[in-house]
Amino acid sequence: MRIRTLAEAKQPEMAAWRHQIHQNPELGFQEQKTTAFVKKVLKQADISMRPLGTPTGVLGILRGEQGPGPVVVLRADLDALPMQEENDVPYASHTANVMHACGHDGHTAILLGTAHILASLKSQLRGEVRFLFQPAEETLHGARQMIEAGVLDDPPADYIAGLHGSPLAEIGQMAIRRGPVMASADMAVITFSAAGGHGAYPHRTRDPILAAGHFITAVQSIVSRQVNAVDSVVVSICSLESGSAFNIIPRQAVLKGTVRTLNKSVRQGIPNMLEEKAAGIAQAFGCDWQLEYTQGVPAVQNDASVVDQLVEAGQIVLGPENVVFPPDPLMGSEDFAFYMEKVPKSAFFQLGFVRPGQPAPNLHNSHFNFDDGALVPGAAVLSQFAADMLTR
Ligand code: NI
Repeated sequence: MRIRTLAEAKQPEMAAWRHQIHQNPELGFQEQKTTAFVKKVLKQADISMRPLGTPTGVLGILRGEQGPGPVVVLRADLDALPMQEENDVPYASHTANVMHACGHDGHTAILLGTAHILASLKSQLRGEVRFLFQPAEETLHGARQMIEAGVLDDPPADYIAGLHGSPLAEIGQMAIRRGPVMASADMAVITFSAAGGHGAYPHRTRDPILAAGHFITAVQSIVSRQVNAVDSVVVSICSLESGSAFNIIPRQAVLKGTVRTLNKSVRQGIPNMLEEKAAGIAQAFGCDWQLEYTQGVPAVQNDASVVDQLVEAGQIVLGPENVVFPPDPLMGSEDFAFYMEKVPKSAFFQLGFVRPGQPAPNLHNSHFNFDDGALVPGAAVLSQFAADMLTR
């Protein structure tokens, strides 16, 4: 229970750090104040920092004093969301229309606490722990910037782990599973176009809205008729823009949608399926078509051996009954997946923040506030995991 005790001793500081960050939220790639604050707190524990050459983000480095060993990277995210906070707490956001509604203030405080705990154990550790505080997780662009800045290099990282606060488990619990955990997220923009004309004389032009309507219907058959029923896929058309008046057949209809998959080969097949449908429908209705398909983040796929290590750490610091195994992955996404492509020995877990008997808080809600009760469990699991990896 040693690390659990160390984490409990850090609780007041972690809570104070979280409140400070919560009060001063910053959007993705604008986390200057948060970056400066993180550096200040790392310095208090004598953690060295590698210059990244990026405006925001921090890489803290702790070398064990027991000689060479593996490199373990632990990751948190720094950014807030563009929404107005409605919590009535003394440390509510000072910035209008920006708030920590996804708990990244909690993740950052947890990783700061973890850095302090592991720093106090460095005489027993070998190898290296890197504390990675990345910008812009919400836009899913921060991880790539950090990878380009070399956070996984010199020497190459052997393991990486991360967490997210979650309504899927109770305070004091962690939820983790092997294999797929979260989905890939790609974006599709489909444009149907024609000459445009008078609404009273449709036979003199072609109608991109009609093509768009058929396309929306046809897309539903990708999941139901083209993908194996045992594979999980979401294709959602979430935006349709077209037209300006009740009597003008517009020149364009633009559809935007998101594609989520858990399986790489299924993911690769979707653009062709969209293309076939767009081309066939455009031809049938005499329109032109265009598909712009952008690959976003890959799926989060947990390595079984790293999951086992995290489970073991969780069982030590939380108790065996508090490590839970959700049966299903999530179709949401995380840019942590980019690190996983580079460091296959990696895993991501959910940290419970549901209070027993109370409704699960909603992420990205104006009343969301990361529960301070999850700070100790989070820091204890990450610390125990890294300590285990670097003392064996
Ligand atoms: Ni988040």
